[in-house]
Order: sequence, then structure tokens, then C-alpha cells
Amino acid sequence: MNSFTLLLFILVAGFRSTYSGTVCLSCSGVQSINQCTHLENCRNDEVCFFEKYNTESGTEMYDLGCSIPKLCTKRKTRQLTEGHHLTCQGCCNNTNVCNLNTECGDVPVSHNSSESGRTCVSCTGVQNINDCTHLETCGSNEVCFIHKYATESGIEQYDFGCTLPELCVNKRPDEIFGKRLAEGHHMLCKGCCNKSNVCNLNAACDDAVKQNTSGNGRPRECDDLNNANTGVYTIYPDEYHAVKTYCIMANNEKWTVIQKRFNGFVDFYQEWNAYKRGFGVATGEYWMGNDYIHRISTSTGHKLSIYLEDFDGTFKYANYSVFLIGDEKEKYKLTLSGYTGDAGDSLITQTGMTFSTKDRDNDPSAALNCAAYTQGAWWYKNCTSSNLNGPYLAGVGTYERSMFWKDWKVFNSIKKSTMMITRT
Ligand SMILES: *[C@@H]1O[C@H](CO)[C@@H](O)[C@H](O)[C@H]1NC(C)=O
Ligand SMILES: *[C@@H]1O[C@H](CO)[C@@H](O)[C@H](O)[C@H]1NC(C)=O
Ligand SMILES: *[C@@H]1O[C@H](CO)[C@@H](O)[C@H](O)[C@H]1NC(C)=O
Ligand SMILES: *[C@@H]1O[C@H](CO)[C@@H](O)[C@H](O)[C@H]1NC(C)=O
Ligand SMILES: *[C@@H]1O[C@H](CO)[C@@H](O)[C@H](O)[C@H]1NC(C)=O
Ligand SMILES: *[C@@H]1O[C@H](CO)[C@@H](O)[C@H](O)[C@H]1NC(C)=O
Repeated sequence: MNSFTLLLFILVAGFRSTYSGTVCLSCSGVQSINQCTHLENCRNDEVCFFEKYNTESGTEMYDLGCSIPKLCTKRKTRQLTEGHHLTCQGCCNNTNVCNLNTECGDVPVSHNSSESGRTCVSCTGVQNINDCTHLETCGSNEVCFIHKYATESGIEQYDFGCTLPELCVNKRPDEIFGKRLAEGHHMLCKGCCNKSNVCNLNAACDDAVKQNTSGNGRPRECDDLNNANTGVYTIYPDEYHAVKTYCIMANNEKWTVIQKRFNGFVDFYQEWNAYKRGFGVATGEYWMGNDYIHRISTSTGHKLSIYLEDFDGTFKYANYSVFLIGDEKEKYKLTLSGYTGDAGDSLITQTGMTFSTKDRDNDPSAALNCAAYTQGAWWYKNCTSSNLNGPYLAGVGTYERSMFWKDWKVFNSIKKSTMMITRT
């Protein structure tokens, strides 16, 4: 045993012996509480929690374990996003394994959420730091954390988000080892900064990150640009990620193009994550990405203009005075109204619908996976009056299974489409 191992052993042994508090069930990601058979000794200052959440694929799951009372609330806290909000229920002071029993009434309060603090990148279970595009506003008493861990099947992943400084221990990971979530979900904070924004993207806290991510003076959409010419520009829809986007400047309006097709070079029959993040190139055909479209369209009131052109060079417009889509948890639900134009209103039938891709069937049709059936990705109902992300066909369409706009071309595919938004 070398001295380091010895030291570690002493540390761990000493640390273990200080655990004389409540005993809690401790598991993460079980689909039934009864599946959790692992017990954990909590520290004196900890209580048991259990948390019920939905994974992104809609499965209901539970996490159970020790937590500090400050994090216990019946309401969601800001601990982790994407269905991983830490909610403590059944936190008891006296009984053992109290988180088996949801009846316990002692529910300590969490931070005052009306006092907002810094902004952190916030995701769970991403394999690449750059895959995390979601930002979260923390409570005033929280800091950003980054956590690298291996899943039980050995895949390296990251969690990011807001957390309490008490749980952030760079130098003494023993203080949080074994807490919060078991099975590889032990929380370790790195890059917890008190000053900078979004510091958890960068394990080394520095003010350069803050400068680049504060959003101050950065264009969030084309409407924020001073330029008068149509073309490709860099915008920051979430204040953080630079996104190259086609901007159309016309008639004193500056439009952010969220979808553009004109030659069929880009494959639009893509999966959920591709539509979430966007694909294609700003100089050619592309989908901007549902997370960005959500960010922009919900920042203030936005309108949508859809330009359509057929293979004879005839063009039509469908304009909507109200347009927004929900976030990923809301499955990018479409809200739309106020049609004017000459193309016909082939999108209003889809309003209120959630977004579907071939791998995420969110449409209300019991019989069909509309995205797979129409080979597109859209706010399908049963199925659709429009399908501008459908197959790119040379004029001859097959009803829904093409770049489809029913009120203009029932059996002919559209040649060009541009979907663009700007502030109202
Ligand atoms: C339970 O523990 C919390 C935190 O230690 C304390 O504030 C609370 O008063 C205790 N409640 C009871 C009923 O002992
Ligand atoms: C939360 O903080 C705000 C602003 O400081 C304050 O007005 C409010 O009363 C606080 N709420 C609670 C429940 O403490
Ligand atoms: C950061 O915040 C924590 C908790 O609020 C505090 O204890 C610590 O001294 C701060 N560190 C710096 C470098 O300001
Ligand atoms: C921040 O922006 C500056 C200037 O554009 C750049 O030199 C620097 O590398 C950026 N820092 C980070 C962390 O991206
Ligand atoms: C639709 O909006 C576009 C872009 O602002 C505009 O050029 C066009 O005239 C509008 N068409 C109708 C019919 O409102
Ligand atoms: C949905 O569409 C399918 C195929 O067009 C049709 O058979 C079915 O009756 C429709 N269901 C409803 C509820 O409209």
C-alpha cells in the first residue's frame, strides 16, 4: 500500500464513520421504488429524498437517496434539468428509510426562486460538452457545476446545471461522495465560479467565458443586427452558442430564417436530435434547430412568414402574426395564428400539435407514426395539411409524402421554401 492509497483509505474510513444519520434507500433510475434495495447511511445533516421524473423518452423513474434539507422541496428545484429536478418528499427526521414512505410531512423549503443568479449550461447525460445548449437561470445562492461520470454500461457522460455551493467541493470530494444519486451519479462540482456566467462549460473559471457568453450586445436574432444586407450572419439565439444563420433584410424588416430548402441537397428526413440542434448549412439548405427556434420565438412576440415557390417559378406567401414553439419538454409544441397570404392556410390545422420525427412519434394519431408515414418532421396531427420538411421531389408529389402545402398544391411538391421569423 503506497502512502497515497493509505491516505485515501484513512480518508474514506474516517469519512464513513461520520455517517451516523438517517438510513435512506438510495438508487437512481429505478422504475419502481420496490426495485431499490440499496441502503445508504446519510450524514447527520442530511435527510432522505425521493424524486419521480420522466426521462426524455417518457419513461417514469425514481431516484432515491440522501440529500441536504435545503434541497428538499415539494416543488421542483433547479438541481438538474431535463426531467432530473430534485424533489424531496418524505424527508423525515426520526424514522429510518423514510423515503420508502411518501407520507412524511417534513418538507424543508429550498432557496427563494424569485431571486435569480447566474446562468449555467444545464443538461443531463450528454456525451459531449458541446451537445449541451440549454441554459438555466440559477437561484441567487447557487453556482454552476459540471459533472463527468460513467454510466453503468461504461459510457462517459456529463451533467451540468445549477447547484448549491455546499455541494461543490473541488478539494474535498469525500464530502459529497455517495450522495445525491447512486450508481455513478455522485455529484462532483468543478468549475464552480462565483462571478462568471456559464462557467461550467469550462472547468477553468475565467472571465473570458463571461465576456463571450453574457449575451450583452450579442445579436440573438437577425433583427438585432445593424447590417442592411441579406446574407449569412452569426447570431446567439441562446446568448451563448454562435449560430450561422441566413438573414433576410427587406422592407425595413430583418428576418431570421429557420428553414430553407431550394435544391434538395440536404436530407431533411432526420431524427429528433438533429431537429433539436439543427442541420444543414446557412449558405444552403438547413433547419435552424428547435431549441434555437424556441429561444428566439419565445423571447418576445414573433411572427412567421413562409415563402413558397413551385417548379414554374410561381411564388406564394403564408404569413402568421403569431408564432412560437415550446421547449423540448413541451415537445416543441406549435402556437400559431393570424394568417394572411395567398398560399392558403395549411399550417393552422397543425397548431397546438407537438413536433414529431421518425424516432419520436408525438402525433395524436393512434394508427400512424405520421413522421415516418410522411417521411418528414413536423407538428403532425392525423397527419397534416403541410409538410415542408418532407421528401424533396421534382414537382410530382404524393400528397403528404412530399414538400407539401395542401391549400396550394395537393399533388405537386414545392420547389423552394423559406420559413422566417421576426419580432412583432
Ligand atoms: C427536521 O429536521 C429539520 C432540519 O434539520 C429541522 O429544521 C426540523 O425542525 C426537524 N423537524 C422535526 C419535526 O423535528
Ligand atoms: C423572495 O425574495 C424576494 C426578493 O428578495 C422577496 O420579495 C420575497 O418576499 C421572497 N420570498 C420568500 C418566500 O422569501
Ligand atoms: C464563492 O462563494 C462561496 C459560497 O457563497 C464562498 O464561500 C466563497 O468564498 C466564494 N469564493 C470566491 C472565490 O469568491
Ligand atoms: C472569447 O472571445 C474572444 C474574442 O472573440 C476570443 O479570443 C476568446 O478565445 C473567446 N474565449 C472563449 C473562452 O471562447
Ligand atoms: C408576407 O410577408 C412577406 C414578408 O414580410 C411580405 O413580403 C409579403 O408581402 C407578405 N404577404 C402577404 C400576402 O401578407
Ligand atoms: C386518421 O387518418 C387515417 C388515414 O388517413 C384514417 O384512416 C383515420 O380514420 C384517421 N383518424 C381520425 C381520428 O381522424
